[in-house]
Amino acid sequence: MYVISGSTHQRLGASLAEEMDAEFCGVVNRHFPDGERYIRVLMDVNEQDVVVVQNTFPDKKIVELLLILQAVKEAGAKTVTCVIPYMGYSRQERIFQSGEARSAKAIASVIGGMCDRVFTINVHTPEILKFFGCEANDINGSREVVRYLKGFGPDMVIAPDEGSKDRCTLAADLLKVPVHVMKKVRIDGRTVETSSGQINVKGSTAVILDDIISTGGTIATAANILREGGAERVFAACTHGLFIEDAANRLRVCDDILSSDTLEGVYTRFSVAPAIADAL
Ligand code: R5P
Repeated sequence: MYVISGSTHQRLGASLAEEMDAEFCGVVNRHFPDGERYIRVLMDVNEQDVVVVQNTFPDKKIVELLLILQAVKEAGAKTVTCVIPYMGYSRQERIFQSGEARSAKAIASVIGGMCDRVFTINVHTPEILKFFGCEANDINGSREVVRYLKGFGPDMVIAPDEGSKDRCTLAADLLKVPVHVMKKVRIDGRTVETSSGQINVKGSTAVILDDIISTGGTIATAANILREGGAERVFAACTHGLFIEDAANRLRVCDDILSSDTLEGVYTRFSVAPAIADAL
C-alpha cells in the first residue's frame, strides 16, 4: 500500500504510512509560471492500493487533490482511497436560501468520481457522504480527543449547539461525565447568540467540544456563559481548528484550546492518524 499526501498533510500522511506499514510516496508539487499547479507522483503505483490524503480547504488545495487523484489513476493504481481530514465546504450541505449552491455536493461529487472510496473525519454532517457517489465513511476522531481530555479531569462536556449533541454525548460517555447541550442561534458569520438553560457549573471543570472552531464565536460565547456561572476551568476542544481572524483573542476566555491535526496549527495537540489507520 502507498500513502500520498498533498501539501496540507505531509506530516499526517507520513504518520499514517508508518502506522500502516505502507510506503510514503513523494510528489513533485509546484506551480507553472502562470500559477497553475503541476503534480507528479514519484513512485510506481501501477496495480497498487493507494491512499491519498488532502484537505479540501483552502480552495487551492482542492485543485491539488484533484491532480493527485488524476496522477494516481493515470499511473494505473489498483484502488484509490481518498482521505479528507478536513472537508472544506461541508457546512453548505443544504440550500438555506433559494439560488444558493449546494457547495458540499459540488465538491464531493467531483472527488467521488475520481476514487473508489472516501473517508472524512468528524465531518460536519454525515448527509454529505452520499454526495461522493462512491463508498464514503466518516471516521470518528472523538476517541483521540477524549484520550487527551482525560488529563484535565473534566466534570462535564458542553455541547455548544444542538448540532454537536451526538458527538458530545459520545465523548461524555467515554469520559463518564454528564453532557449539557446549549442552544445557539447564528446571527451572522461571526456572531452567535447562545442560551444555556438550567446548568450548575460552579467550581467545575468544563470542556466545550465542537467539530469546527472558525471565528471562535461559538466557543467564546459558550465559555463566557460558563465563566459567568462560576466554572473554575473551561477548556475548548475541536477536531478541526480553523482559528480565523481574531479567534485566538476571542478564545482567551478559555484556559486552554486544543485541536487535532486535521488542520495543523498552534493549537494542534493530538493526531487522528491512529483513527484513520484503524478505519483503513
Ligand atoms: C457549526 O455549526 C459548527 O459546528 C461550528 O459550531 C461552527 O463552525 C463554529 O464556527 P465559529 O467558531 O465561527 O463560531
